[in-house]
Amino acid sequence: MADLDNLKVPHDYHLDKPFANNRPFYVKGANALDWGMKKHLANIFNPKSGNTVMFAFDHGYFMGAVSGLERLDLVLPKLMPHIDVLMCTRGALRTCVDPACRKAVALRATSGSSMVQDDLSHEILAVDAEEAVRLNADCLAVQTFIGADGQLSSLQNLEQAVNLGQRYSIPVLGVVAVGKEMERTQKYFKLATRMLAELGANIIKTYYCEGFDEVAAACPVPLVVAGGRKLPEQEALKLCYDSISHGARGVDMGRNIFQSYHAVSMIKAVRKIVHGGLNDQEAYEYYKAEVAKEGGEGAGS
Ligand code: 5RP
Repeated sequence: MADLDNLKVPHDYHLDKPFANNRPFYVKGANALDWGMKKHLANIFNPKSGNTVMFAFDHGYFMGAVSGLERLDLVLPKLMPHIDVLMCTRGALRTCVDPACRKAVALRATSGSSMVQDDLSHEILAVDAEEAVRLNADCLAVQTFIGADGQLSSLQNLEQAVNLGQRYSIPVLGVVAVGKEMERTQKYFKLATRMLAELGANIIKTYYCEGFDEVAAACPVPLVVAGGRKLPEQEALKLCYDSISHGARGVDMGRNIFQSYHAVSMIKAVRKIVHGGLNDQEAYEYYKAEVAKEGGEGAGS
């Protein structure tokens, strides 16, 4: 009915306008944070590109020795030069990461799930403040389950981590988990990412979706995109390019790197997109050239 039309303004994400409160500090939504928080965020996001390549190898905290990560001690040294941020558990850090690696750390702070028991949505905040400071974590990664049975307890974990993070100047990475029954839609990711930002997360890890530019525009902190299950390298590089070109400030890739037969060439190609401005096709050509240089040797060579 005409008189009921236009009762409220339509959605407008102003996609043509950059985030306004972004001076002088370059990380989205961090302008009012203190020096320590900004230092950790600067360790994570490259000041030139504003982006980051997080290598995720925290899968063991609920999957055990997932394929490609059977030997962290052998996989990490080869990839290390090409990683900006280590996304991992404290156990992996202490046992397999050289403290001289000079890389940022996204410390997996929640646990309680396992592949044995199918429910991944009831975790605890396992890392306390002293441990985060001891490990010099650049951010705490907290799994959240919006719209799932574990929603309340996971948001409680997030808020405890945000309180701790503000007290000790350690940013929080809110992880948007998508349960089996959830749909990876723009509507869901707009809700989940905005909620976590409003609840105090400083960075959010989510998944790519159609209309991602609106998801990114509506979220006042930077988004990094998880790689998800292993794809053919060309498709994974397209996922990376689509994410960056639609507003993500980086990727948090695990399986699409460590389960590649050419993990080093793959992470180098990801960097070419995230930091070097290449598109997915250019990056795939680069990947193939790097593989040819490897001489087609085995995994991760
Ligand atoms: C697994 C995680 C990973 O950090 C995240 O999913 C990125 O890894 P992948 O690219 O393999 O999905 O949260 O617990």
